[in-house]
Amino acid sequence: MYHAKNGRMSRTIAHLSDLHFDLSEARLKQAESLRDRLRERRVDHVLVTGDVTENGRALEYDQFKRVFEEFLDGGSCTVIPGNHDRLGHEVAKDMMENQRMCIVRRPGLYLIAVDTTGPHNRWSFFPHGTLARWTIKRIARAIEDAGREDFVVVAMHHHVVPLPEENWMEKLAAMFRTRFAAELTLGQYLIRRLHGRCDLLLHGHRHVPMETRLPGRRTLRVVNGGSSTQQNGFRIFRFSGRELRGEPEWVECG
Ligand SMILES: [Fe+2]
Ligand SMILES: [Fe+2]
Repeated sequence: MYHAKNGRMSRTIAHLSDLHFDLSEARLKQAESLRDRLRERRVDHVLVTGDVTENGRALEYDQFKRVFEEFLDGGSCTVIPGNHDRLGHEVAKDMMENQRMCIVRRPGLYLIAVDTTGPHNRWSFFPHGTLARWTIKRIARAIEDAGREDFVVVAMHHHVVPLPEENWMEKLAAMFRTRFAAELTLGQYLIRRLHGRCDLLLHGHRHVPMETRLPGRRTLRVVNGGSSTQQNGFRIFRFSGRELRGEPEWVECG
C-alpha cells in the first residue's frame, strides 16, 4: 500500500514469525486468517522469520506455500528458516536456497535475510542459533551497498539479546546455563555493527513479542515478532525513506 505523506511515498513491511504449520485444522485456520488480513491491508512486503513448520516436514511446508501463495508467487514475501524447519525433511534448505545470507531489494527497502540455523538444529533438544563472525562482517559490508534513502532491515530467526524464558524447559536450561534458551553468542557484536547503519533488526524464535530500542543518530529497533499464529496477529511497519512513520501497527486477526 502506498501513501503520499509530506510529499514522500511511504511503504509497508509486515513481520510474521513462528507460524509452526503442523497440519492441524486449527493451525491452518489461524494461518488463513493471517493471510486474509495481509490481503486486506495490501502490504508491500511480507517477511516470515522462521519456524514456518513445526516438524520440518514437506507436507507442512507445502501447506504454508499454498496459504501464502499469492505473496510468494508475486515476489512480495521473504521466508527465512528457523530451527524447527531443520527437523524432519529439513525444508529449511528450500527457503534461502541454502545460503547463509541473501539481499532482497524492493522499492525503498533493503532487506538482508540471514539464516541463523545450524546442523545441530536437526535435533529438537538443540534449538539455539548460530551466527559466525564472518557472516556478521558480510552483513556489515552488504549494508554499505544500501541506497542513501533505503530503509534497511536485517532479519533472522534467533534472538540477539537475552529475553525472558517462556516455558519450564527454557527456565531449566537458563538455570543450568546451557545454550538451549540462550541468545546468539555474537548478538551484541552484531548490534554494535548494525547500530547507526540499519533501521530494524527483526527476528522470532521466542513466541512473545518484544522490542528493544537503541537510540542514536539512526535509531535501531530490535523487534521480536513472536509467534503470529499463537499471538493471533502481526506487526506492520510503515516507513518513508529511512524513517519509520509512527509506531508499528499490531494487526489482530479475528
Ligand atoms: Fe518457534
Ligand atoms: Fe525457533
